Amino acid sequence: MSAHDRSGFGSSEARLKPEEFRLLRDLFCSRIGVHFSLESRFIVERRLRERLGALGLTTFAEYYQYLRFAPGAPAEWDEAIDLVTTNETYFCREDYQLRSFKNELLPMLVEQTKPRGGHLSIWSAGCSTGEEVYSIAMLVQQSNLFRPENVRIYGSDVSRRCIAAARKGVYGASSFRAIDPMLRDRFFIQRADGVHVDPLLKSMCHFGQHNLLDADKARLLGRADVVFCRNVLIYFDAHARKRAIDVFHERLHAGGVLLLGHSESLLNVSTAFELLHLKEDLAYRKPKGFGRADSPRE
Ligand SMILES: C[S@@+](CC[C@H](N)C(=O)[O-])C[C@H]1O[C@@H](n2cnc3c(N)ncnc32)[C@H](O)[C@@H]1O
Repeated sequence: MSAHDRSGFGSSEARLKPEEFRLLRDLFCSRIGVHFSLESRFIVERRLRERLGALGLTTFAEYYQYLRFAPGAPAEWDEAIDLVTTNETYFCREDYQLRSFKNELLPMLVEQTKPRGGHLSIWSAGCSTGEEVYSIAMLVQQSNLFRPENVRIYGSDVSRRCIAAARKGVYGASSFRAIDPMLRDRFFIQRADGVHVDPLLKSMCHFGQHNLLDADKARLLGRADVVFCRNVLIYFDAHARKRAIDVFHERLHAGGVLLLGHSESLLNVSTAFELLHLKEDLAYRKPKGFGRADSPRE
């Protein structure tokens, strides 16, 4: 049997022991904030097992050591993160919130962005393969409230594979499961290799690989008028959730708005935002007075 065969055999048989699971779970949590419950041991085992084969390792303890100390660890982190993160998404997800964004928040932002020349900046944090980013762009376009060249929508995700797919902007049927057919007809082009995002929409959208726990890198993004972070923090532990929320608070303009997923809230996480009651949703606003002379933090 060749060395390659042996590693393949070892990887397919490797079991993730409870103590190895705890080590890997803590390592992932401190790196990207995602917390695996005890019940997810077998999912983690199944998802990461192929990496043992690819690296010629036979146990998950060796894989843990590899992620911590091997010269190839940075590239391996990209592989591992692609495998363990949950990237489910589709166009116009949580449409009641997007309606509030279009009908209530965008008109409010017209006034708010006037002193900055009408430039609108939106950050979709944890955007997966980009459907959320392009959905936001469609609504901004539909509203006719901002000139396309004044709009910058930045989508970020920790998964390198997701960001590559988002930049490509070519989608299959499951991404369109909840979209209004009129939006699909207006903003997409059918080609032989799939359904492409319209170039004008694409010109408003930018993407980057970014770990939400990396506050220093977030500072390079500039400030945003709106941050969408939907269906991301549910996977985080309490400490990581707080770190990410602090980053959003810092990156928002005073008066800027944070939108979370329907099962997420700032309860027990932060008191730095005020509640903004919209017709169909609840949003979080960085207080308008934040940053004036009476506030030493900005
Ligand atoms: C379920 S998807 C949500 C996608 C989109 N926001 C939506 O609601 O449809 C969660 C995304 O969060 C990303 N994610 C997890 N941890 C992250 C981190 N530390 N930094 C940035 N993105 C992260 C995952 O890679 C995944 O693509």
